[in-house]
Amino acid sequence: MNNFEFKNPTKIIFGKDTIKKLTEEIPADAKVLLLYGGGSIKKNGIYDQVKTALAKIDTVEFGGIPANPEYAVLMNALKVVKDEKITYLLAVGGGSVIDGTKFLSAAAVYDGDTPWEILTKNVKTEKGMPFGTVLTLPATGSEMNSGAVITRAETKEKLAMGGPGLFPVFSILDPQVITSIPERQLVNGITDAFTHVLEQYMTYPVGALLQDRFAESILQTLIEVAPKVLKDPSDYNAAANFMWSCTMALNGLIQKGVPSDWAVHAMGHELTALFGIDHARTLAVIAPSHYKFNFEDKKEKLAQYADRVWNITEGSTDDKAYAAIERTEAFFKELGIDTKLSDYTKDYEGTAEKIAERFTNRGWLGLGEHQSLSPDKVEKIVKMAY
Ligand code: NZQ
Ligand code: ZN
Repeated sequence: MNNFEFKNPTKIIFGKDTIKKLTEEIPADAKVLLLYGGGSIKKNGIYDQVKTALAKIDTVEFGGIPANPEYAVLMNALKVVKDEKITYLLAVGGGSVIDGTKFLSAAAVYDGDTPWEILTKNVKTEKGMPFGTVLTLPATGSEMNSGAVITRAETKEKLAMGGPGLFPVFSILDPQVITSIPERQLVNGITDAFTHVLEQYMTYPVGALLQDRFAESILQTLIEVAPKVLKDPSDYNAAANFMWSCTMALNGLIQKGVPSDWAVHAMGHELTALFGIDHARTLAVIAPSHYKFNFEDKKEKLAQYADRVWNITEGSTDDKAYAAIERTEAFFKELGIDTKLSDYTKDYEGTAEKIAERFTNRGWLGLGEHQSLSPDKVEKIVKMAY
């Protein structure tokens, strides 16, 4: 097992009817900016619950943060933060609203030339403006990690940022919120969380027995609850297990002491930036090709995953590893997720070359657990995913 340090300061408040606990978490003298997305919270009652809890707190609102949070919109929010002398941010939404809030948390205290540098210069935020979240969509794990991904339509870029100062102070997870989530977003959430686990697991064995079993148990739980959540989002127990699995998939725990990959996300983000494809769907497009291309490096873990998660016990290591890739792709398809780029756009020719060129220009010359996935390999993987 590799050496590691682990600190996750986010307080989780989990369970039925917990949104009202906001009152106890936000300092009484704070001036709060309540941030939300396209308005789903106004239809499903979450907004009303939040407003009731904030009744005694000085609050300003900023709505309209789009899926794949857009830099230009966030810059408008930053102006509100400054003009209104905001001291505390509250994200009410999914990964996009929470990530947008993390950007604001960092940008509010950033004293460089332009906040876009936080993304392009990989600025690590040590201490941002404090913020909490009310999660409305289980998927990204953003509610309990310190990373964010921001999109800039003007340049068709989607870049990651983060730092130890960007953990939420608290996150409220009420599984009842999933009753209003459209099926498309539910399957996105399942696929995203599933792939988060794979990115931190599908590398090579380092004898980290507990981390492997944590990862496998999250995958098994997602597979078990997916059909229940889709059949009946008001099944509270299924919703609760789904929500907690998504959080646990990317709160840092399963990544400790093991190598991680994240190349599927790096390539996937480009497909969202170029074509606007939902984040989770880009992962389902890239992952099967990525695992086939890197088969030799990953086959031990692929075979272990085949055995322990999918109960594929027959055959050689190679047989099981290959069957695991096929089973994973089938799982995405069973959820209703297409797994080829050509399923999403007819305009895919040249995409692989473009992504390889972008990675070269950014100096991303060796991705993956061995830092050996060079842009020419990225080009081949993306082509396999056409
Ligand atoms: O905008 P609103 O009206 O809120 O509607 C949203 C949006 O249309 C809707 N929704 C959310 N909760 C709902 C609901 N609709 C009805 N009822 C509810 N309770 O769902 C749509 C999608 O929301 P979004 O926040 O975009 O989805 P998700 O949580 O999947 O977040 C995706 C973003 O997170 C980034 C992705 O790249 C993408 O930009 N990620 C962030 C990560 C992180 N910070 O750790 C890791 C991930 O890998 C990912 O990259
Ligand atoms: Zn993801």
